[in-house]
Amino acid sequence: MSDWLRHIFEGRPWWMNVLLAFCAYMAFFYMPWDLFWKPVAEDKEVWFGILFSGWGAKLVAIPHWFVYGAATYGFRRMRPWMCTWGAAYIAQISFGMLVWNINQLGGLTGVVVGVVTAAPFAGLAFVFWNAQEHFCADRVPLLERYGEWGLVTGASAGIGAEFARALARDGMSLVLVARREERLRELADQIEKEHSVATRVVAVDLAEADGADRVAEAVADLEISVLVNNAGFGYAGRFDKLELDRLRAQVQLNCLAPTVLTHRLLPGMRERGRGAVIFTGSVAGRQPLPLHGVYSASKAFALFLGEALWVELRGEGIDVLVLEPGSTETEFQAVAGEITHPGESAADVVDVAIDTLGHQPSVVSGWWNWLRANLVTRLLPRDLVASVAKDVIERQTPDAMR
Ligand SMILES: NC(=O)c1ccc[n+]([C@@H]2O[C@H](COP(=O)([O-])OP(=O)(O)OC[C@H]3O[C@@H](n4cnc5c(N)ncnc54)[C@H](OP(=O)(O)O)[C@@H]3O)[C@@H](O)[C@H]2O)c1
Repeated sequence: MSDWLRHIFEGRPWWMNVLLAFCAYMAFFYMPWDLFWKPVAEDKEVWFGILFSGWGAKLVAIPHWFVYGAATYGFRRMRPWMCTWGAAYIAQISFGMLVWNINQLGGLTGVVVGVVTAAPFAGLAFVFWNAQEHFCADRVPLLERYGEWGLVTGASAGIGAEFARALARDGMSLVLVARREERLRELADQIEKEHSVATRVVAVDLAEADGADRVAEAVADLEISVLVNNAGFGYAGRFDKLELDRLRAQVQLNCLAPTVLTHRLLPGMRERGRGAVIFTGSVAGRQPLPLHGVYSASKAFALFLGEALWVELRGEGIDVLVLEPGSTETEFQAVAGEITHPGESAADVVDVAIDTLGHQPSVVSGWWNWLRANLVTRLLPRDLVASVAKDVIERQTPDAMR
């Protein structure tokens, strides 16, 4: 618990931490009480110095709640929009103080008291406006942060290929792993030419029981600093219609291979006191997915493993991240046997991971996916969530497999 609190409050000036604590108090305690428990007759809210009471106060308390909720999130994740947005809100309070006092006290007294009470908020708005460097700190390239070599599984296509390009752009040399060797060689050539980094191709079937061990042996002479456990596949259809061997391979690839590779490569990172492990999970891992049951269970495995490691390794210089994409336009749907449906671009999904690495244990890409993963699946009853998920997946699954 104390570790968790330290992590929340580190890396920010003290005055921002005070504001974060205040916003969290308002968002989680005061505003819910104000909205749902405080008697309507006693309720009062002020916006721009104008007093609202009764039901009007209840109504304008909703944007207040939203403001404090968003500010809590913005501080917690140090989002770049905070410096403009926060400054604007505090300027509104400053303006409100002035108008309120002029209205209430009138005359010169009102103006003087108004200016005196508004000034500290105007100052705070100014400080906020100038706090860009805290919210928009330059990202340190991965090579500098973690070391020279990255290893990406599933690099022959989709999200894995984009991870490889992103790591190379940051100056990292790369080990590319998948089964289709020609594809890996093509990508390796392209990356070497474009970014002047070294590459090594390791063509291995990670669904074989010793696949991950073979990869670890093939890179035993390298210091792997960033491991991206990305290879994986979906397999859509009613559980009893799916081939057992393919389900076995799915669990081996999506669950066991990342476990083994991480276990084999982590000791080197711990010795060096720095490194990163990324798991490509999925929003599918946030709830049961009928017609994709084993797949969603395998992604829940990645999520829980990654988040647990994030806590275990915090403080050792090793960052862990579970990337949770929603539908993404790659070969995934064809491999899974799904009916084609639109999705995000793999490059955008990888950008989200690279921007988030080191800041939080897991990240959902895309705001709609975020809402689904964080609100819908947590607030609704589990059987309802699973039933709705079935309706969605049914539309993506050919008749013969339902
Ligand atoms: N696309 C989506 O909608 C989506 C959404 C959420 C999560 N994800 C996750 O994102 C990850 C990457 O998927 P993607 O969307 O990029 O799909 P993709 O385009 O099909 O790429 C999958 C990659 O995994 C590799 N792979 C598959 N089986 C393998 C095996 N037995 N051994 C070694 N490598 C293997 C493939 O290479 P080879 O075929 O050459 O072996 C390929 O490079 C997966 O873990 C997937 O579950 C995808």
